[in-house]
Amino acid sequence: MLTIVDTIGQTPLVQLQRLTHANEARIGLKCERTNPGGSVKDRPARFIIETAERAGWLSQGGTIIESSSGNFGISLAMLGAAKGYRVIILVDPKITPTNLALLEAYGAEVEIVTAQDDSGSYHKTRIARANELARQIPGAFRPDQCFNLLNSAAHANSTAREILVQGGDSLAMVIAAVSTGGQLGGIIRQLKLVAPHVQVVGVDAVGSAIFGGAAHSYLMPGVGLGWTPANLPLALLDHAFNVPDEAAFLACRTLARHEGIMVGASSGAVLLAAMFFAQQLPANSQIVAIAADSGERYLQTIYNDAWLGDHGLSINCSPAELRARARSLRPCAFHEGQVGTVQANLAETLQVPASTQQMNQLVQEQWQQRSALQVGAAFAIRQALLQDVYC
Ligand SMILES: Cc1ncc(COP(=O)(O)O)c(C=O)c1O
Repeated sequence: MLTIVDTIGQTPLVQLQRLTHANEARIGLKCERTNPGGSVKDRPARFIIETAERAGWLSQGGTIIESSSGNFGISLAMLGAAKGYRVIILVDPKITPTNLALLEAYGAEVEIVTAQDDSGSYHKTRIARANELARQIPGAFRPDQCFNLLNSAAHANSTAREILVQGGDSLAMVIAAVSTGGQLGGIIRQLKLVAPHVQVVGVDAVGSAIFGGAAHSYLMPGVGLGWTPANLPLALLDHAFNVPDEAAFLACRTLARHEGIMVGASSGAVLLAAMFFAQQLPANSQIVAIAADSGERYLQTIYNDAWLGDHGLSINCSPAELRARARSLRPCAFHEGQVGTVQANLAETLQVPASTQQMNQLVQEQWQQRSALQVGAAFAIRQALLQDVYC
């Protein structure tokens, strides 16, 4: 018997037909919209909640408390409803009416944090308030997506394994957008262990500081952070891009009109990077691009002509123009000296809960054990992982 929670994962890899040419690499979009909560965030939400249940950090009558104005909050609200937990989500004034409505539809309690942090965003103030509430409410559990390494472990155990199976022998590259670093960090750790020839590419917004540089405001929802997250081992990354808002939004709209696929803005940014490499890699190679959520969540913004016009952004472009925009992208030079944005003692300043630290110790021990295995055994490990039952 299948529950709603059992339907998380095993998302399809959809090959593009019209935005690439026959002599280019294939681009497969891994469409995370088919998860029941509508995004890739269902995976870490389930993994963290079920690990906490097994460890006794979360039990019946408990309350899940998280900082999120987007997909992770929606995934937790959905899981809380399915499993019978109270859910409190700390959001900020930038939350879209759609996301707010989704949180409320799943019965989550929402608190809006209005104080901005030192980078002009709300990440740190929201996290600090979530930690404060968790100390006050008995039976509270903090999934803590920004500091909890189970976030990336979830993707190592599910997303990365699916990509290896679906990409097959021609898998040459995987591209994902980054905020907490969960997706990209998990994929990179798993792939560099069992398929080190596959290149891994990170995509962020112009204005975010994850790959280094100073933070400034941008419109692209779902991506970016004012610091380099603990879940992302930056040194393992092959390439990184900061994509401008306009190009990402145009990619979404062109994909909808010329391939019939509706995705969110981060997927548009990822698609551009995929089109950049598709025009360089051999024709028989496979690029997997993660489409983290669906376009329906953004009908009032990136798919709305008036909203784009109000922000002075172009509304549509042809596939040929999009291909030219992709070619004009320039990778970040983070290997030549830029080392991301380190914020020392941030976890202590924001009073990250003890349960996060305990979970992180478990994850780090597991990673050390896995990387201690010889590279020569990589094929055997890969076969074992592919046959493994997902945890
Ligand atoms: C639509 C979307 N794309 C990409 C990301 C980045 O994923 P991660 O937090 O795993 O780095 C998020 C995170 O919330 C998201 O909502």
